Amino acid sequence: MRDMKRVLLTGASGRIGSYLRGALAQDFALHLNDVADLGPARANETLFQGDLTDPDLCARMVAGLDAIAHFGGRSGIHSFADVLHSNIVGMQVLYEAARKAGVRRIVWASSNHVTGFHPVTEVIDPASPRRPDSFYGVSKSFGEDLSRFYFDRFGIETLCLRIGSCFPEPTARRMLATWLSHRDLEQLVRLGLSAGRIGHMVVYATSETREGFWHSPALRVLGYRPKDDADAFAARFDGPSPERFQGGPFATAPLAEDRA
Ligand SMILES: NC(=O)c1ccc[n+]([C@@H]2O[C@H](COP(=O)([O-])OP(=O)(O)OC[C@H]3O[C@@H](n4cnc5c(N)ncnc54)[C@H](O)[C@@H]3O)[C@@H](O)[C@H]2O)c1
Repeated sequence: MRDMKRVLLTGASGRIGSYLRGALAQDFALHLNDVADLGPARANETLFQGDLTDPDLCARMVAGLDAIAHFGGRSGIHSFADVLHSNIVGMQVLYEAARKAGVRRIVWASSNHVTGFHPVTEVIDPASPRRPDSFYGVSKSFGEDLSRFYFDRFGIETLCLRIGSCFPEPTARRMLATWLSHRDLEQLVRLGLSAGRIGHMVVYATSETREGFWHSPALRVLGYRPKDDADAFAARFDGPSPERFQGGPFATAPLAEDRA
């Protein structure tokens, strides 16, 4: 355990975090955070249950770390108040703790919803204009700027993964373009934690796809070679995608505020 890299995984009780918790445990000494129950600690794990907006908690859980895999936050269509708390304030509190503790590397779950209002007929890349499709997308756009600031000002490196749809298998027609398998996500996180130099890098994170609308040349430089292919599931979905926008239902869903 003493020779292992020490990594904080936030969102460790969530869908993606639960997968990464199991996948990374053999190779890293993990600090785990979530506001939700984390269950019992397993080998190589130290638990830090609590809210990311708590500066004292963040200071304790980043002490002595080599890197952070930041997957905690509100995922999906939420009110502005919700994403403000977890994705904006929580992320700033975590980065500030990382700066004070001298953590140099963060792999962070951004989202394709930063550019969700581009039409599905366009192929875009990380340099294309941001067009967030929701308050959630706006909060991820903030995170990309925040991490850029912490790199330019303090040299903290961040790999921003604009994750498409990370599920065990595609569950909707749109996911033939956006799907990211768990093991391909794991590969990206491992590359992000171990690469010699990242700087501030933004990439779209998907498995192989013929229908994709995102192009990220930096992924090859990083050494990413997806093992899974969304096309293997194409027979499950009939006809063309009904979506106009790359963000799919996020671009047309009512605001959470209007549903309340
Ligand atoms: N699943 C996807 O397809 C997908 C796509 C794009 C981006 N992402 C991003 O990846 C990350 C993980 O996604 P997921 O699908 O596992 O979501 P999830 O909701 O299952 O997990 C997120 C976890 O973060 C925790 N959390 C929320 N607010 C917190 C706070 N203030 N303090 C501490 N913990 C808090 C939640 O309790 C939850 O367990 C999120 O940042 C999400 O925005 C996911």
